[in-house]
Amino acid sequence: MTLLARRVDPEWLDELPANDPRAVRSRRDLRLMNRIMSHAAIIRRALERGLSPAPLHIAELGAGDATLLLRALPPRASGARLVFVDRQPVVSGETVRKYAERGFDASVDAADVFEWLRADGPRYDCIVANLFLHHFEVPQLAEMFALASRRTRMFAACEPRRARIPLAGSRMLGLIGCNDVTRHDAYVSVRAGFCGRELSACWPAGSEWKLEESKAGLFSHLFLASGATVCRS
Ligand SMILES: C[S@@+](CC[C@H](N)C(=O)[O-])C[C@H]1O[C@@H](n2cnc3c(N)ncnc32)[C@H](O)[C@@H]1O
Repeated sequence: MTLLARRVDPEWLDELPANDPRAVRSRRDLRLMNRIMSHAAIIRRALERGLSPAPLHIAELGAGDATLLLRALPPRASGARLVFVDRQPVVSGETVRKYAERGFDASVDAADVFEWLRADGPRYDCIVANLFLHHFEVPQLAEMFALASRRTRMFAACEPRRARIPLAGSRMLGLIGCNDVTRHDAYVSVRAGFCGRELSACWPAGSEWKLEESKAGLFSHLFLASGATVCRS
């Protein structure tokens, strides 16, 4: 199969105000697409392999409405902390309450991820990204990974896979009612997605990390970096 050249273009959702009705609708579409692509289950399985059942401190980059981890993390007795980082804080009070019911103390940091990662802050058991890394060119990914590798012992990302089937799928989203923003951004996202070992190549070289990268489901690409020991919060 011919490899599609990677191409990063602006996404409309990033440029619309958070309260624009088309943006609100597109975030609803994203929840639907995450379900169709089983991203919560893909991330849950990846985390189960690397994290202990001890209290956890997890950050999600580009978390959007932060609903994905509700389905990816099993309930905890107590003591688990979640931080959702996004330039556009669209996490509802209801979502925060649902996390609390499941034993997670959830908070939101409205920030650019690079500024957030550069700032002094705690270390995390895991940093997660879903449908987020594809926004960035290779030098930015390398910088993000270098910063993240100092703040966590595990990094898990589920992204669009850059291949013919996901590209064809992105052209059919009108059939399930997705709006113009979602249809545009889905195509752009697949063109900016990943295949092979492209994300591993951006992780800091020569470090003591185990890197796994593979196709996940029909449409997605999973990247997992785990350190020798997973830290405790
Ligand atoms: C495609 S959405 C995915 C949202 C969420 N992860 C999901 O699966 O529904 C990408 C998100 O990244 C955020 N974003 C884009 N660039 C960012 C940056 N430099 N720093 C922080 N957030 C950013 C956008 O605001 C948006 O919420």
